[in-house]
Amino acid sequence: MNIAIDGPAGAGKSTIAKAAAAALGSIYVDTGAMYRAMALFMLQRGISADDKAGIERTCEEADISIAHKDGAQHVFLNGEDVTASLRSEAVGDMASKSSVNAKVRAKLVELQQKLAETTPVVMDGRDIGTVVLPNAELKIYLTASSYKRAERRYKELLERAAASGTSSDEIPSLEEIEKDIIERDYRDMHRENSPLTQAEDAVVVDSSDMTIEEVTERIMRLARERSAGK
Ligand code: DC
Repeated sequence: MNIAIDGPAGAGKSTIAKAAAAALGSIYVDTGAMYRAMALFMLQRGISADDKAGIERTCEEADISIAHKDGAQHVFLNGEDVTASLRSEAVGDMASKSSVNAKVRAKLVELQQKLAETTPVVMDGRDIGTVVLPNAELKIYLTASSYKRAERRYKELLERAAASGTSSDEIPSLEEIEKDIIERDYRDMHRENSPLTQAEDAVVVDSSDMTIEEVTERIMRLARERSAGK
């Protein structure tokens, strides 16, 4: 069974998708990481977000692939494992901007569809239920309020700074993070190509007041119901 999980940034898609894939014995595919790898390549090349020709040229030269090690997805950009370089704000921002490009989307959607043809997947992104896997057996639209999502991201940044022994002075404020999230949502939802929308047959799950365990349990229950033909 293929499961599509879409929703805005920070709703908990990857955590939930990872847990669901492990429980079902499926492969977890994080499509955002592919857009991020493409964005990283553009940043390395010094391409700006409004340089359409530069973005398309870079896209043609990018060879992106994924592999799984101990259940974790690793993303390769032109043969190099770039997984550890994908989570920065700069890469996320460029990914949101460059993913509006139709050529970028076509290339990555093809890769995603090929992956799902060969193995059962739990795939998360923005257009999985609507474009990439329109026939997925279960579609989830996972969302949460922008404040809750900002709060989670803020805590994650604080924990990461503490773990690496770096100062938390560099971390943006909660207000700045929420503003950035609202801007990114707007861009993802209003772009011309494959905007983030809820598929008609998606089940909406609002994780604002739910724990990770509660959301995972809800999704596993839905998956069991679907596979039993309900
Ligand atoms: O899920 P994420 O934050 O890692 O995604 C980064 C950006 O990539 C996001 O702002 C929009 C884009 N994206 C997309 O357009 N389509 C997807 N299926 C996944 C991500």
